[in-house]
Amino acid sequence: MIFSQVPVGTMQNFSYIIGDAASHKAVLVDPAWEIDKLLGLCGDAGLSVCYVINTHSHHDHVEGNDAIVQRTRAKVVAHQSAPIRKDIAVSDGDLVELGSLRIQVIHTPGHCPDHICLLVDGKVLTGDTLFVGECGRTDLGGGNPGAMYESLFNKLMKLDDATEVYPGHDYGRKPSSTIGEERRTNYTLKPRTKEEFIKFMAEP
Ligand SMILES: [Fe+2]
Repeated sequence: MIFSQVPVGTMQNFSYIIGDAASHKAVLVDPAWEIDKLLGLCGDAGLSVCYVINTHSHHDHVEGNDAIVQRTRAKVVAHQSAPIRKDIAVSDGDLVELGSLRIQVIHTPGHCPDHICLLVDGKVLTGDTLFVGECGRTDLGGGNPGAMYESLFNKLMKLDDATEVYPGHDYGRKPSSTIGEERRTNYTLKPRTKEEFIKFMAEP
Protein backbone atom coordinates (compact mmCIF):
# COMPACT_ATOMS: atom_id res chain seq x y z
CA MET A 1 0.00 0.00 0.00
CA ILE A 2 1.16 3.50 -0.78
CA PHE A 3 0.11 5.80 2.06
CA SER A 4 0.69 9.49 2.55
CA GLN A 5 -0.49 11.97 5.19
CA VAL A 6 -0.58 15.43 3.64
CA PRO A 7 -0.93 18.63 5.71
CA VAL A 8 -3.21 21.09 3.87
CA GLY A 9 -4.62 24.56 4.44
CA THR A 10 -4.53 26.84 7.45
CA MET A 11 -6.74 24.83 9.86
CA GLN A 12 -4.19 22.04 10.44
CA ASN A 13 -6.16 19.66 8.20
CA PHE A 14 -4.74 16.38 6.99
CA SER A 15 -5.70 14.93 3.62
CA TYR A 16 -4.62 11.37 2.85
CA ILE A 17 -3.51 9.48 -0.24
CA ILE A 18 -4.12 5.73 -0.21
CA GLY A 19 -2.68 3.98 -3.24
CA ASP A 20 -2.59 0.41 -4.50
CA ALA A 21 0.90 -0.24 -5.83
CA ALA A 22 -0.16 -3.01 -8.23
CA SER A 23 -3.08 -1.29 -9.96
CA HIS A 24 -1.78 2.31 -9.55
CA LYS A 25 -5.24 3.30 -8.31
CA ALA A 26 -5.63 5.82 -5.52
CA VAL A 27 -8.16 7.20 -3.05
CA LEU A 28 -7.99 10.77 -1.78
CA VAL A 29 -9.44 11.10 1.71
CA ASP A 30 -10.79 14.55 2.65
CA PRO A 31 -9.19 16.47 -0.23
CA ALA A 32 -9.21 20.18 0.58
CA TRP A 33 -7.39 23.48 0.33
CA GLU A 34 -4.34 22.35 -1.68
CA ILE A 35 -5.65 20.36 -4.62
CA ASP A 36 -2.61 20.99 -6.85
CA LYS A 37 -0.34 19.62 -4.13
CA LEU A 38 -2.49 16.50 -3.66
CA LEU A 39 -2.80 15.76 -7.38
CA GLY A 40 0.90 16.49 -7.86
CA LEU A 41 1.82 13.92 -5.20
CA CYS A 42 -0.46 11.35 -6.85
CA GLY A 43 1.07 12.10 -10.23
CA ASP A 44 4.62 11.79 -8.86
CA ALA A 45 3.71 8.36 -7.45
CA GLY A 46 2.15 7.28 -10.75
CA LEU A 47 -1.30 7.00 -9.19
CA SER A 48 -4.63 7.79 -10.80
CA VAL A 49 -7.36 8.94 -8.43
CA CYS A 50 -10.43 6.70 -8.60
CA TYR A 51 -12.25 7.71 -5.43
CA VAL A 52 -12.64 10.61 -3.07
CA ILE A 53 -13.76 9.45 0.37
CA ASN A 54 -14.97 12.04 2.87
CA THR A 55 -14.78 11.20 6.59
CA HIS A 56 -17.60 13.69 7.11
CA SER A 57 -19.40 16.57 5.44
CA HIS A 58 -17.80 19.54 7.22
CA HIS A 59 -16.53 22.16 4.80
CA ASP A 60 -12.84 21.86 5.67
CA HIS A 61 -12.92 18.15 4.70
CA VAL A 62 -14.93 18.34 1.45
CA GLU A 63 -14.13 21.69 -0.11
CA GLY A 64 -11.76 20.12 -2.68
CA ASN A 65 -14.25 17.47 -3.87
CA ASP A 66 -15.54 19.35 -6.93
CA ALA A 67 -12.08 20.28 -8.18
CA ILE A 68 -10.83 16.70 -7.81
CA VAL A 69 -13.88 15.31 -9.60
CA GLN A 70 -13.46 17.80 -12.45
CA ARG A 71 -9.80 16.95 -12.91
CA THR A 72 -9.86 13.17 -12.35
CA ARG A 73 -13.46 11.97 -12.72
CA ALA A 74 -13.11 10.28 -9.35
CA LYS A 75 -16.25 8.96 -7.69
CA VAL A 76 -17.21 10.57 -4.38
CA VAL A 77 -17.83 8.16 -1.50
CA ALA A 78 -19.50 9.34 1.71
CA HIS A 79 -21.84 8.09 4.41
CA GLN A 80 -25.42 7.66 3.21
CA SER A 81 -26.58 10.45 5.53
CA ALA A 82 -23.99 13.01 4.35
CA PRO A 83 -25.71 16.06 2.82
CA ILE A 84 -23.16 16.42 0.00
CA ARG A 85 -23.03 15.39 -3.66
CA LYS A 86 -21.86 11.79 -3.66
CA ASP A 87 -21.72 8.93 -6.17
CA ILE A 88 -21.49 6.06 -3.69
CA ALA A 89 -23.35 6.11 -0.37
CA VAL A 90 -21.84 3.83 2.27
CA SER A 91 -22.84 2.59 5.71
CA ASP A 92 -21.18 0.82 8.61
CA GLY A 93 -19.22 -2.28 7.58
CA ASP A 94 -19.12 -1.52 3.86
CA LEU A 95 -15.89 -2.16 1.96
CA VAL A 96 -14.43 0.12 -0.71
CA GLU A 97 -12.26 -1.96 -3.05
CA LEU A 98 -9.17 -0.38 -4.54
CA GLY A 99 -7.18 -2.91 -6.54
CA SER A 100 -6.14 -5.48 -3.95
CA LEU A 101 -6.89 -3.13 -1.03
CA ARG A 102 -10.06 -3.26 1.06
CA ILE A 103 -11.02 -0.09 2.90
CA GLN A 104 -13.55 -0.79 5.64
CA VAL A 105 -16.12 1.83 6.62
CA ILE A 106 -16.81 2.31 10.35
CA HIS A 107 -19.75 4.63 11.05
CA THR A 108 -18.75 6.85 13.99
CA PRO A 109 -21.40 9.53 14.63
CA GLY A 110 -20.86 12.00 17.47
CA HIS A 111 -18.88 14.84 15.91
CA CYS A 112 -21.59 14.86 13.25
CA PRO A 113 -24.15 12.23 12.17
CA ASP A 114 -22.45 11.31 8.87
CA HIS A 115 -18.97 10.70 10.25
CA ILE A 116 -17.09 7.57 9.14
CA CYS A 117 -13.65 6.23 10.00
CA LEU A 118 -11.70 4.16 7.47
CA LEU A 119 -9.78 1.01 8.34
CA VAL A 120 -7.17 -0.21 5.85
CA ASP A 121 -4.06 -2.35 6.22
CA GLY A 122 -3.57 -1.81 9.97
CA LYS A 123 -4.32 1.91 9.84
CA VAL A 124 -7.46 3.75 10.88
CA LEU A 125 -8.23 7.20 9.49
CA THR A 126 -10.22 8.83 12.26
CA GLY A 127 -11.24 12.20 10.78
CA ASP A 128 -12.69 14.44 13.49
CA THR A 129 -13.76 11.54 15.73
CA LEU A 130 -10.36 10.90 17.35
CA PHE A 131 -7.26 13.10 17.33
CA VAL A 132 -3.86 12.44 18.89
CA GLY A 133 -4.56 13.20 22.57
CA GLU A 134 -8.10 14.51 21.99
CA CYS A 135 -11.49 13.59 20.60
CA GLY A 136 -13.68 15.59 18.27
CA ARG A 137 -16.09 18.30 19.38
CA THR A 138 -19.71 17.34 19.94
CA ASP A 139 -21.10 20.85 20.41
CA LEU A 140 -21.44 21.75 16.72
CA GLY A 141 -24.57 21.17 14.60
CA GLY A 142 -25.48 17.48 14.66
CA GLY A 143 -23.00 16.78 17.45
CA ASN A 144 -24.03 14.14 19.98
CA PRO A 145 -21.86 13.21 22.99
CA GLY A 146 -23.78 9.97 23.62
CA ALA A 147 -23.15 8.86 20.04
CA MET A 148 -19.49 9.91 20.39
CA TYR A 149 -19.18 7.65 23.43
CA GLU A 150 -20.45 4.66 21.45
CA SER A 151 -18.18 5.49 18.51
CA LEU A 152 -15.06 5.86 20.65
CA PHE A 153 -15.53 3.11 23.20
CA ASN A 154 -17.57 0.52 21.29
CA LYS A 155 -16.01 0.95 17.86
CA LEU A 156 -12.53 2.56 17.77
CA MET A 157 -11.38 1.19 21.14
CA LYS A 158 -12.38 -2.31 19.98
CA LEU A 159 -9.60 -2.15 17.37
CA ASP A 160 -6.26 -3.80 17.99
CA ASP A 161 -3.77 -1.76 20.06
CA ALA A 162 -1.25 -1.87 17.20
CA THR A 163 -3.65 -0.16 14.76
CA GLU A 164 -2.12 3.12 13.65
CA VAL A 165 -4.27 6.24 14.11
CA TYR A 166 -4.31 8.95 11.44
CA PRO A 167 -6.53 11.91 12.38
CA GLY A 168 -8.21 14.62 10.30
CA HIS A 169 -6.29 17.45 11.96
CA ASP A 170 -2.78 17.92 13.35
CA TYR A 171 -3.97 18.83 16.86
CA GLY A 172 -1.69 16.59 18.91
CA ARG A 173 1.93 16.44 20.02
CA LYS A 174 2.67 14.38 16.91
CA PRO A 175 0.81 13.74 13.65
CA SER A 176 -0.17 10.09 14.22
CA SER A 177 -0.43 7.54 17.00
CA THR A 178 -1.78 4.07 17.72
CA ILE A 179 -4.99 2.82 19.29
CA GLY A 180 -2.98 1.41 22.22
CA GLU A 181 -1.18 4.69 22.84
CA GLU A 182 -4.44 6.65 22.71
CA ARG A 183 -6.08 4.12 25.04
CA ARG A 184 -3.26 4.70 27.56
CA THR A 185 -2.68 8.46 27.22
CA ASN A 186 -5.71 10.25 25.72
CA TYR A 187 -7.60 11.96 28.57
CA THR A 188 -10.89 11.76 26.67
CA LEU A 189 -10.60 7.95 26.61
CA LYS A 190 -10.22 7.42 30.36
CA PRO A 191 -12.70 4.79 31.58
CA ARG A 192 -16.07 6.53 32.04
CA THR A 193 -19.68 5.46 31.93
CA LYS A 194 -21.71 6.92 29.09
CA GLU A 195 -23.38 9.30 31.56
CA GLU A 196 -19.98 10.42 32.91
CA PHE A 197 -18.68 10.94 29.37
CA ILE A 198 -21.69 13.09 28.39
CA LYS A 199 -21.12 15.23 31.48
CA PHE A 200 -17.37 15.39 30.74
CA MET A 201 -18.02 16.60 27.16
CA ALA A 202 -20.28 19.39 28.48
CA GLU A 203 -17.48 20.78 30.67
CA PRO A 204 -15.55 23.72 29.21
FE1 LIG B 1 -15.37 18.44 11.43
